[in-house]
Amino acid sequence: MASNWTPAGWQAHEARHLPAYDNAAELDGVEQVLAGFPPLVFAGEARALKADLAEVAAGRGFLLQGGDCAESFAEFTADNIRDTFRVLLQMAVVLTFAGKQPVVKLGRMAGQFAKPRSAPTEVQGGQELPSYLGDIINGIEFEASSRRNDPARMLRAYSQSAATLNLLRAFSTGGYANLRQVHRWTLDHIARSPWAAKFADTADRIGEALDFMAACGVDPGTVPQLQGTSFYTSHEALLLPYEQALTRRDSLTGEWYDCSAHMLWIGDRTRFDGSAHVEYLRGVGNPIGMKCGPSLSPEALLRLLDTLNPGREAGRMTLISRFGDDKVEAGLPALVRAVAREGHPVVWSCDPMHGNVIKASSGYKTRPFERILNEVRGFFAVHRAEGTHAGGIHIEMTGQDVTECTGGAVAISPEALADRYHTHCDPRLNAAQSIELAFLLAEMLNLEAQDRVQKVA
Ligand code: PEP
Ligand code: CO
Repeated sequence: MASNWTPAGWQAHEARHLPAYDNAAELDGVEQVLAGFPPLVFAGEARALKADLAEVAAGRGFLLQGGDCAESFAEFTADNIRDTFRVLLQMAVVLTFAGKQPVVKLGRMAGQFAKPRSAPTEVQGGQELPSYLGDIINGIEFEASSRRNDPARMLRAYSQSAATLNLLRAFSTGGYANLRQVHRWTLDHIARSPWAAKFADTADRIGEALDFMAACGVDPGTVPQLQGTSFYTSHEALLLPYEQALTRRDSLTGEWYDCSAHMLWIGDRTRFDGSAHVEYLRGVGNPIGMKCGPSLSPEALLRLLDTLNPGREAGRMTLISRFGDDKVEAGLPALVRAVAREGHPVVWSCDPMHGNVIKASSGYKTRPFERILNEVRGFFAVHRAEGTHAGGIHIEMTGQDVTECTGGAVAISPEALADRYHTHCDPRLNAAQSIELAFLLAEMLNLEAQDRVQKVA
């Protein structure tokens, strides 16, 4: 357990991107209510995820992490949760087949509400208001009353997270995640895709594998594992008053856990030396993610790893690189080498979203599918060259048919972005683009799997 640590100790450190609340008593009241609420996850589940991630760190698995950039109160419906969950499962089946390894499924869901913003204020039509910071803090409507930081929003975010998690648990174990069914959805999807021919081979082979297994008596009717799946939740641990209020001591081990989600990550803007966010997360037993962008030096990364994982526990740290497709091949190798040299057991995951945001000619913030894919290719190329495991992918996506990222098989044009641009923050891959990405990733995972077989032979 971390020494000299308390759940409130972060308050003595430099905290960036935390909202200022104008009524301390109101904030205090909300924190006390939250502290009395039940935990959303159980420490044993966070440990199970850590064990799964330890396997990935050892080269025996792949991490699939995805969901909204920012969950919102407005888009909180059963259909949205179901559709995002379904697309993640479809992606996972394709990736499991291609990589011949288990895929750890982790939603950016059930708590992903708070956002760091590049500017503290926003100007529209000559009026300046505080920036939108995520539904757990203030409202997206451009009005002074809505942009006030309101602590009571934390209570609503908690209950939305609880309901979302409840539905995810029901879907993952209640029969919805049946392997046969998931593959049927994928077949259905690719039948309609302009890239159908490109994906037919992989899809057919998955179908044959399922038929073969069924003929051997292994199917969802006989093997409970094929009926359901494990599914975990994660979000950026940005709003520390909320995270602190949900920090609980595990009755089995006596260790502290952040019971707002299974995994928490530190953003690229809050991972500096001396950060309150780093101080908070070093003391909880959950698996921790950390974004690694172009401004992170190998020395700083090693210092952070020593702080966050002094015992070098495998599965504790997932490093999520987010360089931009034109920077990943130049910037990532130095970090990968430093970590390998010091023997830190980490999962390397690729966020191909946050380094590839551009402004489209139509004025919308977007991410071209080609650049996203290119960053993933660069990430795999670096790990192949370094002899390390390309261990995962971290994406902003939704199960809905939105038009937020350009490109993909249906080739969303910059002009079409206005059609269904619904995100509360960054542009997300839509359902079709997410499944396409999985099939394209499958080719890269295939190569890695072949390398592994050759090494063994
Ligand atoms: C995010 O994941 O939504 C995010 C803000 O990313 P980053 O910290 O990498 O910029
Ligand atoms: Co984002």
